[in-house]
Parts: sequence; C-alpha cells; structure tokens
Amino acid sequence: MISQELNDSLTRVGKGSDAGEVLRRYWQPAALVDELEGVRPVVPVRLLGEDLVLFRDSEGELGLIGRHCPHRGADMCFGRLEDNGLRCPFHGWHFNRAGQCVEQPGEPAGSRMHEKIQSTAYPVVEKNGIIWAYMGPGTPPDFPALDCFRAPSSHVFAFKGLWDCNWLQAMEVGIDPAHASFLHRFLQDEDPAEAYGKQFRDTAGNTEIPMTKLLRDFPRPEITAEEADHGLKITALRDLGDGRTHVRITNQIFPEAICIPMSREMTITQWHVPIDDKSCYWYSMFTSFDQPVNKTLMREQRLKEHRLPDYAPLKGRHNNYGFDPEEQQRETYTGMGLDINVHDQWAVESMGAIQDRTQEHLGKTDVGIIRYRRQLRAAIAAVKEGRDEDLPMYGGLDLATVFGPVSNDSIAQDGDWERAAQEADLQRRGACSWDAKV
Ligand code: FES
Ligand SMILES: [Fe+2]
Repeated sequence: MISQELNDSLTRVGKGSDAGEVLRRYWQPAALVDELEGVRPVVPVRLLGEDLVLFRDSEGELGLIGRHCPHRGADMCFGRLEDNGLRCPFHGWHFNRAGQCVEQPGEPAGSRMHEKIQSTAYPVVEKNGIIWAYMGPGTPPDFPALDCFRAPSSHVFAFKGLWDCNWLQAMEVGIDPAHASFLHRFLQDEDPAEAYGKQFRDTAGNTEIPMTKLLRDFPRPEITAEEADHGLKITALRDLGDGRTHVRITNQIFPEAICIPMSREMTITQWHVPIDDKSCYWYSMFTSFDQPVNKTLMREQRLKEHRLPDYAPLKGRHNNYGFDPEEQQRETYTGMGLDINVHDQWAVESMGAIQDRTQEHLGKTDVGIIRYRRQLRAAIAAVKEGRDEDLPMYGGLDLATVFGPVSNDSIAQDGDWERAAQEADLQRRGACSWDAKV
C-alpha cells in the first residue's frame, strides 16, 4: 500500500509532473513507421498528455510539432502537406518540420511576424519500425545498445496496441513473473509447432516440456530482482522437483519498458507509453536471434485482434473481453481466449483507469514491482534536485555498453542456474546471424 500522494507522483505524466519529467528524459515511442506509410504521411500523436502531429515532409524527414496551430488553435492534423512542411488550412500559416512558422500568406506583404512564431517541436528518429520522440530538456541521450536496436530491421518486427489505463499498472504486469502461471494458464497444451509468433507456446529451454505445462505445474516461482545498468534484472526460478530448475530471466528497462523471452527464437522488448494519465500504448519490438522475422504473418496475426487506425483491441471492456464461462472451465484460466495480450489487457484495465494503490497488498512475488517503484522514486527525486546525472543510463555511462539484456528461459540440470542461463544466452548469441555478442 502506498499513499495517494505517492500514487499520483508515480503515475501522472503531464508536463511538470513527477513521473512525467522522468519519462521526458528518455526517448519515447511516438508512432509505428507503418502509420506513415499511407498517401498522406500525417498522424495525430498524443504523448505524455501533449497533443502533437507527426508528419513526413517532402524531403522525407520527420517533424513532430504541436497539434494546435499557434495562430488561433486549429487542428494541424488536417494541415496541407505541401511546400516541405505543414500548412494550416484556416489562414494558411506554414510550418516546417522544426515547428518554425515560415510563411503567413494573409498578413501584409513584407511582414516578418512569422519569424517569432514557433510551434512546439520535438526531435524524432526512426529505429527498427518505431518513430521515437525526445520531449525533455537539453540534448537527447543516445540509444542504449539493446538487442532490439542492434538487430537489423529484417530481424525486428514492431507493433502496438491501445490499453485503456495508466501506463504504470500496464508496465507492472510485465515485471511480475508470477502471473504467468495463472493469468496465462492453458488447461491444454498446443503443439509447439503451431507456436510461431506467440508467447508461451514454445517448449521450455532445451526440453520437450511445453511452457504452458511448466507454468501450470510449477506456480510458486522464487523471484529475485537486481539492479542493472538498464534497470532491473528479474529472475524467476521454478524447482522442477527432479534436481532440475527452470530459470526465466526478464527485465525492466528504465523507465517504462520490459524485455522478456517470447520463444527460443525471439524476445519481446515492450514499452508502455503514456498517451495521458488514463490511457497508454504498448509498443513491442519482437527481435529474432535466428531467421528474419516473418513480418507479414506477425502483422496479420495482430491485425486480426486490433482495429486501425488507433490500434484499439477488438476485445475489451465493451464486450467483456470475450469472456466465456464454459471456456473458463475447460480451456483457459481467464475464459478470454488464447491471446495472452487480452489476458494482460483485462488484468490492467480492470483495476480502473489509475490503480488505487492505497488499497493494494503486495506479496513476496511482487519484488520486481517494489524494486522498480524504488528506482522511479529515486529518479523523481534526482530530477527535482537537478541531479539528472543520477538517473539510470545517465551520468557518463557509455550507452554503447548497455547490451542485451539477457532475456531467456533455460533449464539447469544441476542447480547452477546462473551458469545455465548464461550458457543458453551465449549459445543463442553465438549462433546469431547479426552481431549479438556481448
Ligand atoms: S489558425 Fe492556423 S493559420 Fe489561423
Ligand atoms: Fe502477462
């Protein structure tokens, strides 16, 4: 349980808010590159409670500027994409990708007023299927050398989905390894050969045990969370009762991402990006250490569950998440189908828009959540006291050395689970077609 005041501090994201100022010091996913593929590359972006418009100008460069025209506030999303910028349809004021007003065609000839008109504008870059924005002060930081950024674009597939709740509860589900044994329990195991592109359908480590069976049969993991350069390394151990230990390593990447294994071939690095205080997008980067990702199949699978253009899931509160009591008895723990994203979505949305943490009771298995909140509180204090150098991945740390992170499932035959996890990781990296060495 925490106080209302602390809950507000950890969850609110607007400009000047505690957590919002921490998040602004890191690159944020603003849109999928896919969203700008149409004939008119202009999309609305609401990020950290700010309304913006993202566009690609005639030079092919990106601009992210304020959604409301600095003249009298009309919506720039309806702007005319012309003359290498975006022109407001109301009185024709024209803005370049840096948000500078370069022309006011209705003002008297020779007027230089436009020189003083500057819309909000944030730096943006494209990386492996996602367009990233930096909304903080000063020069943007470098990107860490995470696998999802180092892998070539052929080996990374990016997708997103809308969740109707605060970003923190969305992120906290990803640093809670205990829930997988319950929320995502399948009462029957699928053939792992049918598992491509799906979470928890592969076999565990190098065994023939389906992950679904392992999670179901061993529901009491021993969980530890240790600080790492990228945030937290979270280890969940399941004693299989025959001398073997199942080791699952997942991560928190500060401030709002997680990195988890999806299958032996792929990991998922997932950002939980605040749209505002009460809604968020998850952005996932599926990174393959083996074959190039089959993006067509991955996209088709996910578009069956989402509608465009807002990537809202087809199942949700409005249709009870597809809940079927018969299915709950026979097939799945939730009765909400086989798509684990729907399970997570129900878990986090059903808490309410912002989880009331004054009423929660954290247990031993919530250690990842406890440690993360401690880091976020320390980061909030650092920003308030002007000590940005004390933030995770700041302070002169060479981000080219923030690798990985290690994120896998393995089986230790002899109790030496640290070695088993490390060997499995090195084996995967050694056999990888792109340079995944650490
Ligand atoms: S409101 Fe945009 S030009 Fe007048
Ligand atoms: Fe989950």
